[in-house]
Amino acid sequence: MDLILGIETSCDETAAAVLEDGRTLRSSVVLSQETLHAPFGGIVPELASRRHLETLGPVLREALRRADVTLADLTALAVTAGPGLLGSLLVGLSTAKALAFAARKPLVAVNHLEGHIYGALLEHPDLCFPFAALVVSGGHTHLYEAKAPGEYRLLGCTRDDAAGEAFDKVAKLLGLPFPGGPAIEETAKAGDPKAIRLPRALVGDRSLDFSFSGLKTAVLLAVQAAAGDPARPPGRRGRRGSPVAVRGAWNTLTPSPRRLAPAFVADLCAAFQEAVVEQLARKALTAARRVGLRRLVVAGGVACNQALRAHLQARGAEAGIAVACPSPALCTDNAAMIAAAGFARYARGDRADFSLRAFASLPL
Ligand code: KG4
Ligand code: ZN
Repeated sequence: MDLILGIETSCDETAAAVLEDGRTLRSSVVLSQETLHAPFGGIVPELASRRHLETLGPVLREALRRADVTLADLTALAVTAGPGLLGSLLVGLSTAKALAFAARKPLVAVNHLEGHIYGALLEHPDLCFPFAALVVSGGHTHLYEAKAPGEYRLLGCTRDDAAGEAFDKVAKLLGLPFPGGPAIEETAKAGDPKAIRLPRALVGDRSLDFSFSGLKTAVLLAVQAAAGDPARPPGRRGRRGSPVAVRGAWNTLTPSPRRLAPAFVADLCAAFQEAVVEQLARKALTAARRVGLRRLVVAGGVACNQALRAHLQARGAEAGIAVACPSPALCTDNAAMIAAAGFARYARGDRADFSLRAFASLPL
Protein backbone atom coordinates (compact mmCIF):
# COMPACT_ATOMS: atom_id res chain seq x y z
CA MET A 1 0.00 0.00 0.00
CA ASP A 2 1.35 3.43 -0.95
CA LEU A 3 0.48 6.37 1.30
CA ILE A 4 1.28 9.88 0.05
CA LEU A 5 1.07 12.94 2.28
CA GLY A 6 0.21 16.01 0.17
CA ILE A 7 1.03 19.56 1.35
CA GLU A 8 -0.39 22.71 -0.29
CA THR A 9 0.34 26.31 0.76
CA SER A 10 0.69 28.12 -2.58
CA CYS A 11 -1.94 30.79 -1.95
CA ASP A 12 -4.42 31.35 0.89
CA GLU A 13 -5.38 27.78 1.79
CA THR A 14 -3.31 25.73 4.22
CA ALA A 15 -3.95 22.11 3.28
CA ALA A 16 -2.74 18.58 3.96
CA ALA A 17 -4.12 15.24 2.76
CA VAL A 18 -3.29 11.55 2.88
CA LEU A 19 -3.97 9.50 -0.25
CA GLU A 20 -3.84 5.71 -0.49
CA ASP A 21 -2.62 4.11 -3.73
CA GLY A 22 -3.28 7.27 -5.73
CA ARG A 23 -7.07 6.84 -5.51
CA THR A 24 -8.48 6.50 -2.01
CA LEU A 25 -8.60 9.68 0.01
CA ARG A 26 -7.88 8.83 3.65
CA SER A 27 -8.04 12.47 4.80
CA SER A 28 -8.13 16.00 3.41
CA VAL A 29 -7.89 19.06 5.65
CA VAL A 30 -8.20 22.57 4.22
CA LEU A 31 -7.97 25.70 6.33
CA SER A 32 -8.99 28.78 4.37
CA GLN A 33 -7.63 32.24 5.16
CA GLU A 34 -10.67 33.92 3.56
CA THR A 35 -11.68 35.89 6.65
CA LEU A 36 -8.10 37.11 7.17
CA HIS A 37 -7.94 38.67 3.68
CA ALA A 38 -11.60 39.70 3.26
CA PRO A 39 -11.19 43.21 4.77
CA PHE A 40 -8.54 43.96 2.10
CA GLY A 41 -10.67 42.67 -0.81
CA GLY A 42 -7.77 40.48 -1.96
CA ILE A 43 -4.92 38.31 -0.72
CA VAL A 44 -2.14 40.07 1.21
CA PRO A 45 0.95 37.90 0.56
CA GLU A 46 2.77 38.79 3.79
CA LEU A 47 -0.27 37.93 5.92
CA ALA A 48 -0.81 34.71 3.96
CA SER A 49 2.69 33.33 4.61
CA ARG A 50 2.58 34.24 8.31
CA ARG A 51 -0.77 32.50 8.72
CA HIS A 52 0.53 29.36 6.92
CA LEU A 53 3.38 29.30 9.41
CA GLU A 54 0.90 29.24 12.30
CA THR A 55 -1.56 26.74 10.84
CA LEU A 56 0.42 24.21 8.81
CA GLY A 57 1.56 22.19 11.87
CA PRO A 58 -1.97 21.68 13.25
CA VAL A 59 -3.38 21.03 9.75
CA LEU A 60 -0.73 18.34 9.14
CA ARG A 61 -1.34 16.68 12.50
CA GLU A 62 -5.10 16.65 11.82
CA ALA A 63 -4.64 15.12 8.35
CA LEU A 64 -2.46 12.32 9.77
CA ARG A 65 -4.88 11.75 12.67
CA ARG A 66 -7.95 11.52 10.43
CA ALA A 67 -6.11 9.11 8.11
CA ASP A 68 -5.02 7.11 11.15
CA VAL A 69 -1.37 7.07 10.07
CA THR A 70 1.95 8.35 11.37
CA LEU A 71 4.86 9.83 9.43
CA ALA A 72 6.54 6.42 9.60
CA ASP A 73 3.66 4.83 7.64
CA LEU A 74 4.06 7.19 4.69
CA THR A 75 5.55 6.13 1.36
CA ALA A 76 6.44 9.69 0.30
CA LEU A 77 5.61 13.38 0.76
CA ALA A 78 4.35 15.55 -2.11
CA VAL A 79 4.51 19.33 -1.89
CA THR A 80 3.53 22.23 -4.14
CA ALA A 81 6.72 23.89 -5.42
CA GLY A 82 4.94 26.51 -7.59
CA PRO A 83 3.42 28.50 -9.11
CA GLY A 84 2.12 30.67 -6.28
CA LEU A 85 3.07 33.25 -3.69
CA LEU A 86 6.74 32.77 -2.91
CA GLY A 87 6.50 33.32 0.86
CA SER A 88 3.51 30.98 1.12
CA LEU A 89 5.14 28.28 -1.01
CA LEU A 90 8.29 28.43 1.13
CA VAL A 91 6.35 27.54 4.29
CA GLY A 92 5.00 24.33 2.74
CA LEU A 93 8.28 23.51 1.04
CA SER A 94 10.52 23.89 4.08
CA THR A 95 8.07 21.96 6.26
CA ALA A 96 7.89 19.13 3.71
CA LYS A 97 11.69 19.01 3.49
CA ALA A 98 12.04 18.91 7.28
CA LEU A 99 9.47 16.10 7.61
CA ALA A 100 10.99 14.10 4.73
CA PHE A 101 14.44 14.47 6.29
CA ALA A 102 13.29 13.53 9.79
CA ALA A 103 11.18 10.56 8.65
CA ARG A 104 13.67 9.53 5.91
CA LYS A 105 10.95 9.56 3.25
CA PRO A 106 11.21 10.53 -0.42
CA LEU A 107 10.04 14.02 -1.41
CA VAL A 108 8.16 14.77 -4.64
CA ALA A 109 7.69 18.29 -6.08
CA VAL A 110 4.29 19.06 -7.59
CA ASN A 111 3.25 21.82 -9.97
CA HIS A 112 0.07 23.40 -8.57
CA LEU A 113 -1.55 23.48 -12.04
CA GLU A 114 -0.95 19.76 -12.56
CA GLY A 115 -2.44 19.35 -9.08
CA HIS A 116 -5.69 20.99 -10.24
CA ILE A 117 -5.87 18.58 -13.19
CA TYR A 118 -5.35 15.60 -10.87
CA GLY A 119 -8.14 16.91 -8.64
CA ALA A 120 -10.49 16.08 -11.52
CA LEU A 121 -8.85 12.68 -12.09
CA LEU A 122 -9.35 11.79 -8.42
CA GLU A 123 -13.09 12.09 -8.82
CA HIS A 124 -13.31 10.67 -12.33
CA PRO A 125 -11.10 7.56 -12.15
CA ASP A 126 -12.45 6.41 -15.53
CA LEU A 127 -11.07 9.55 -17.19
CA CYS A 128 -7.98 8.67 -19.18
CA PHE A 129 -5.38 10.68 -21.08
CA PRO A 130 -5.36 12.40 -23.54
CA PHE A 131 -7.81 15.21 -22.80
CA ALA A 132 -8.05 19.00 -22.98
CA ALA A 133 -7.75 20.77 -19.62
CA LEU A 134 -8.89 24.24 -18.60
CA VAL A 135 -7.36 25.40 -15.31
CA VAL A 136 -9.24 28.48 -14.25
CA SER A 137 -8.55 30.03 -10.85
CA GLY A 138 -7.61 33.25 -9.07
CA GLY A 139 -4.12 33.19 -10.55
CA HIS A 140 -4.50 31.19 -13.77
CA THR A 141 -6.54 30.79 -16.90
CA HIS A 142 -4.65 28.15 -18.84
CA LEU A 143 -5.69 25.68 -21.53
CA TYR A 144 -3.67 22.51 -22.02
CA GLU A 145 -3.55 19.46 -24.17
CA ALA A 146 -2.91 16.82 -21.50
CA LYS A 147 -1.24 14.16 -23.63
CA ALA A 148 -0.10 11.72 -20.94
CA PRO A 149 0.77 11.91 -17.23
CA GLY A 150 3.41 14.63 -16.91
CA GLU A 151 3.12 15.62 -20.60
CA TYR A 152 1.24 18.85 -21.22
CA ARG A 153 1.16 21.31 -24.10
CA LEU A 154 -0.01 24.86 -23.43
CA LEU A 155 -2.69 25.78 -25.99
CA GLY A 156 -3.67 29.21 -24.66
CA CYS A 157 -3.73 31.39 -21.58
CA THR A 158 -4.96 34.77 -20.42
CA ARG A 159 -3.30 37.86 -21.86
CA ASP A 160 -4.15 39.95 -18.80
CA ASP A 161 -6.19 39.01 -15.72
CA ALA A 162 -7.02 35.48 -14.64
CA ALA A 163 -10.77 34.79 -14.72
CA GLY A 164 -10.95 34.44 -10.92
CA GLU A 165 -9.00 37.67 -10.51
CA ALA A 166 -11.58 39.43 -12.73
CA PHE A 167 -14.40 38.03 -10.57
CA ASP A 168 -12.61 39.27 -7.43
CA LYS A 169 -11.92 42.76 -8.82
CA VAL A 170 -15.44 43.26 -10.18
CA ALA A 171 -16.89 42.12 -6.85
CA LYS A 172 -14.72 44.65 -5.03
CA LEU A 173 -15.89 47.39 -7.37
CA LEU A 174 -19.52 46.47 -6.69
CA GLY A 175 -19.02 46.35 -2.92
CA LEU A 176 -19.44 42.57 -2.76
CA PRO A 177 -17.36 40.46 -0.36
CA PHE A 178 -14.11 38.59 -1.06
CA PRO A 179 -13.69 36.11 -2.67
CA GLY A 180 -15.69 37.64 -5.48
CA GLY A 181 -16.57 34.53 -7.49
CA PRO A 182 -19.13 33.02 -5.11
CA ALA A 183 -20.51 36.51 -4.28
CA ILE A 184 -21.05 37.39 -7.95
CA GLU A 185 -22.59 33.98 -8.67
CA GLU A 186 -25.06 34.44 -5.80
CA THR A 187 -25.94 38.05 -6.72
CA ALA A 188 -26.32 37.15 -10.42
CA LYS A 189 -29.18 34.77 -9.58
CA ALA A 190 -31.51 37.77 -9.17
CA GLY A 191 -30.23 39.52 -12.30
CA ASP A 192 -30.97 39.53 -16.03
CA PRO A 193 -27.79 38.90 -18.06
CA LYS A 194 -29.36 40.60 -21.11
CA ALA A 195 -30.22 43.83 -19.28
CA ILE A 196 -26.70 45.23 -19.75
CA ARG A 197 -24.60 44.64 -22.84
CA LEU A 198 -20.98 43.79 -22.12
CA PRO A 199 -18.30 43.11 -24.75
CA ARG A 200 -17.21 39.62 -25.79
CA ALA A 201 -13.40 39.57 -25.92
CA LEU A 202 -11.35 37.92 -28.67
CA VAL A 203 -14.43 36.61 -30.51
CA GLY A 204 -12.89 36.77 -33.97
CA ASP A 205 -9.43 35.85 -32.69
CA ARG A 206 -8.18 32.42 -33.81
CA SER A 207 -5.86 32.08 -30.86
CA LEU A 208 -6.91 30.09 -27.83
CA ASP A 209 -5.97 32.94 -25.50
CA PHE A 210 -8.29 34.70 -23.08
CA SER A 211 -8.72 38.32 -22.05
CA PHE A 212 -10.76 39.78 -19.21
CA SER A 213 -9.41 43.30 -18.71
CA GLY A 214 -11.66 44.90 -21.39
CA LEU A 215 -14.68 43.30 -19.77
CA LYS A 216 -13.57 44.54 -16.36
CA THR A 217 -13.24 48.06 -17.77
CA ALA A 218 -16.69 47.83 -19.38
CA VAL A 219 -18.10 46.96 -15.93
CA LEU A 220 -16.32 49.98 -14.43
CA LEU A 221 -17.73 52.30 -17.11
CA ALA A 222 -21.25 50.89 -16.58
CA VAL A 223 -20.89 51.50 -12.85
CA GLN A 224 -19.59 55.02 -13.36
CA ALA A 225 -22.48 55.83 -15.69
CA ALA A 226 -25.04 54.40 -13.25
CA ALA A 227 -23.51 56.22 -10.28
CA GLY A 228 -23.44 59.49 -12.21
CA ASP A 229 -19.67 59.74 -11.96
CA PRO A 230 -17.93 61.49 -14.83
CA ALA A 231 -16.31 58.76 -16.88
CA ARG A 232 -13.10 59.79 -18.65
CA PRO A 233 -13.89 61.26 -22.07
CA PRO A 234 -14.65 58.29 -24.33
CA GLY A 235 -13.35 60.17 -27.39
CA ARG A 236 -9.74 60.28 -26.17
CA ARG A 237 -7.91 57.27 -27.52
CA GLY A 238 -4.51 55.78 -26.73
CA ARG A 239 -1.77 55.27 -29.29
CA ARG A 240 -3.14 51.88 -30.37
CA GLY A 241 -6.72 53.05 -30.44
CA SER A 242 -7.68 51.76 -27.01
CA PRO A 243 -9.42 54.03 -24.52
CA VAL A 244 -6.92 55.92 -22.39
CA ALA A 245 -6.83 56.43 -18.64
CA VAL A 246 -8.62 53.14 -18.04
CA ARG A 247 -5.93 51.70 -15.78
CA GLY A 248 -5.88 54.86 -13.73
CA ALA A 249 -9.65 54.98 -13.72
CA TRP A 250 -9.80 51.48 -12.33
CA ASN A 251 -7.87 52.53 -9.28
CA THR A 252 -8.88 56.12 -8.75
CA LEU A 253 -12.39 56.69 -10.05
CA THR A 254 -14.10 53.79 -8.36
CA PRO A 255 -17.56 55.07 -7.41
CA SER A 256 -19.09 54.25 -4.08
CA PRO A 257 -21.04 50.97 -4.45
CA ARG A 258 -23.61 52.34 -1.96
CA ARG A 259 -25.03 54.53 -4.71
CA LEU A 260 -25.85 51.53 -6.92
CA ALA A 261 -29.37 50.08 -7.02
CA PRO A 262 -29.44 46.39 -5.99
CA ALA A 263 -31.31 45.45 -9.20
CA PHE A 264 -28.58 47.13 -11.28
CA VAL A 265 -25.84 45.28 -9.35
CA ALA A 266 -27.66 41.97 -9.90
CA ASP A 267 -28.02 42.62 -13.65
CA LEU A 268 -24.37 43.64 -13.92
CA CYS A 269 -23.24 40.50 -12.05
CA ALA A 270 -25.38 38.34 -14.34
CA ALA A 271 -24.07 40.05 -17.49
CA PHE A 272 -20.45 39.87 -16.31
CA GLN A 273 -20.73 36.21 -15.34
CA GLU A 274 -22.35 35.35 -18.67
CA ALA A 275 -19.55 37.11 -20.60
CA VAL A 276 -16.85 35.24 -18.65
CA VAL A 277 -18.63 31.90 -18.94
CA GLU A 278 -19.16 32.29 -22.70
CA GLN A 279 -15.53 33.15 -23.30
CA LEU A 280 -14.18 30.29 -21.18
CA ALA A 281 -16.52 27.73 -22.75
CA ARG A 282 -16.01 28.91 -26.33
CA LYS A 283 -12.21 28.78 -26.12
CA ALA A 284 -12.05 25.51 -24.16
CA LEU A 285 -14.39 23.63 -26.49
CA THR A 286 -12.68 25.09 -29.59
CA ALA A 287 -9.35 23.91 -28.15
CA ALA A 288 -10.66 20.36 -27.60
CA ARG A 289 -12.08 20.24 -31.15
CA ARG A 290 -8.95 21.69 -32.73
CA VAL A 291 -6.63 19.09 -31.21
CA GLY A 292 -9.15 16.30 -31.83
CA LEU A 293 -9.98 15.53 -28.21
CA ARG A 294 -13.41 14.43 -27.04
CA ARG A 295 -12.79 14.99 -23.32
CA LEU A 296 -12.40 18.27 -21.46
CA VAL A 297 -11.40 18.64 -17.81
CA VAL A 298 -12.24 21.93 -16.08
CA ALA A 299 -10.57 22.61 -12.73
CA GLY A 300 -9.58 25.43 -10.38
CA GLY A 301 -11.66 27.68 -8.14
CA VAL A 302 -13.72 29.27 -10.94
CA ALA A 303 -14.86 25.75 -11.96
CA CYS A 304 -17.09 25.88 -8.82
CA ASN A 305 -19.30 28.28 -10.76
CA GLN A 306 -22.59 26.51 -11.52
CA ALA A 307 -23.37 28.72 -14.54
CA LEU A 308 -19.99 27.77 -16.06
CA ARG A 309 -20.52 24.08 -15.33
CA ALA A 310 -24.04 24.05 -16.81
CA HIS A 311 -23.00 26.02 -19.91
CA LEU A 312 -20.00 23.75 -20.52
CA GLN A 313 -22.05 20.58 -20.06
CA ALA A 314 -24.72 21.82 -22.51
CA ARG A 315 -22.31 23.11 -25.18
CA GLY A 316 -20.04 20.10 -24.67
CA ALA A 317 -22.93 17.69 -25.26
CA GLU A 318 -23.83 19.54 -28.50
CA ALA A 319 -20.22 19.25 -29.67
CA GLY A 320 -19.81 15.61 -28.59
CA ILE A 321 -17.25 16.55 -25.94
CA ALA A 322 -17.56 15.05 -22.45
CA VAL A 323 -16.89 17.65 -19.77
CA ALA A 324 -15.56 16.61 -16.34
CA CYS A 325 -15.49 19.07 -13.42
CA PRO A 326 -14.51 17.94 -9.93
CA SER A 327 -16.84 18.74 -7.03
CA PRO A 328 -16.31 22.23 -5.56
CA ALA A 329 -14.12 20.98 -2.67
CA LEU A 330 -11.67 19.58 -5.22
CA CYS A 331 -11.90 22.65 -7.50
CA THR A 332 -10.62 25.16 -4.95
CA ASP A 333 -7.12 24.71 -3.53
CA ASN A 334 -6.63 21.51 -1.56
CA ALA A 335 -3.89 18.99 -0.82
CA ALA A 336 -5.74 15.88 -2.08
CA MET A 337 -5.00 17.01 -5.65
CA ILE A 338 -1.34 17.58 -4.74
CA ALA A 339 -1.10 14.08 -3.24
CA ALA A 340 -2.73 12.63 -6.38
CA ALA A 341 -0.35 14.42 -8.76
CA GLY A 342 2.51 13.54 -6.38
CA PHE A 343 1.58 9.85 -6.44
CA ALA A 344 1.67 9.81 -10.27
CA ARG A 345 5.09 11.49 -10.23
CA TYR A 346 6.35 9.17 -7.45
CA ALA A 347 5.22 6.12 -9.46
CA ARG A 348 7.23 7.40 -12.43
CA GLY A 349 10.36 7.68 -10.26
CA ASP A 350 10.30 11.47 -9.81
CA ARG A 351 12.18 12.54 -6.68
CA ALA A 352 13.15 15.98 -5.37
CA ASP A 353 16.20 16.59 -3.22
CA PHE A 354 16.67 19.13 -0.45
CA SER A 355 17.90 21.75 -2.89
CA LEU A 356 14.29 22.04 -4.16
CA ARG A 357 13.25 25.70 -4.53
CA ALA A 358 9.90 27.46 -4.65
CA PHE A 359 8.88 29.07 -7.94
CA ALA A 360 6.45 31.99 -8.12
CA SER A 361 5.88 31.10 -11.78
CA LEU A 362 6.37 27.56 -12.97
CA PRO A 363 5.16 26.44 -16.36
CA LEU A 364 3.64 22.97 -16.64
O1 KG4 B 1 -8.17 27.57 -7.24
P1 KG4 B 1 -8.41 28.62 -6.22
O2 KG4 B 1 -8.99 28.20 -4.90
O3 KG4 B 1 -7.08 29.38 -5.86
C1 KG4 B 1 -6.13 29.73 -6.83
O4 KG4 B 1 -5.29 28.88 -7.17
O5 KG4 B 1 -6.25 30.90 -7.30
O6 KG4 B 1 -9.33 29.74 -6.91
C2 KG4 B 1 -9.78 30.89 -6.25
C3 KG4 B 1 -10.55 31.74 -7.23
C4 KG4 B 1 -10.96 33.10 -6.67
O7 KG4 B 1 -10.62 34.11 -7.61
C5 KG4 B 1 -12.48 32.98 -6.54
O8 KG4 B 1 -13.17 34.20 -6.70
C6 KG4 B 1 -12.80 32.01 -7.66
O9 KG4 B 1 -11.75 31.07 -7.65
N1 KG4 B 1 -14.08 31.33 -7.42
C7 KG4 B 1 -15.17 31.46 -8.21
C8 KG4 B 1 -16.21 30.73 -7.58
N2 KG4 B 1 -15.70 30.15 -6.45
C9 KG4 B 1 -14.40 30.53 -6.37
N3 KG4 B 1 -15.34 32.15 -9.35
C10 KG4 B 1 -16.58 32.11 -9.91
N4 KG4 B 1 -17.62 31.46 -9.36
C11 KG4 B 1 -17.49 30.75 -8.22
N5 KG4 B 1 -18.54 30.12 -7.69
ZN1 ZN C 1 -5.30 26.83 -7.35
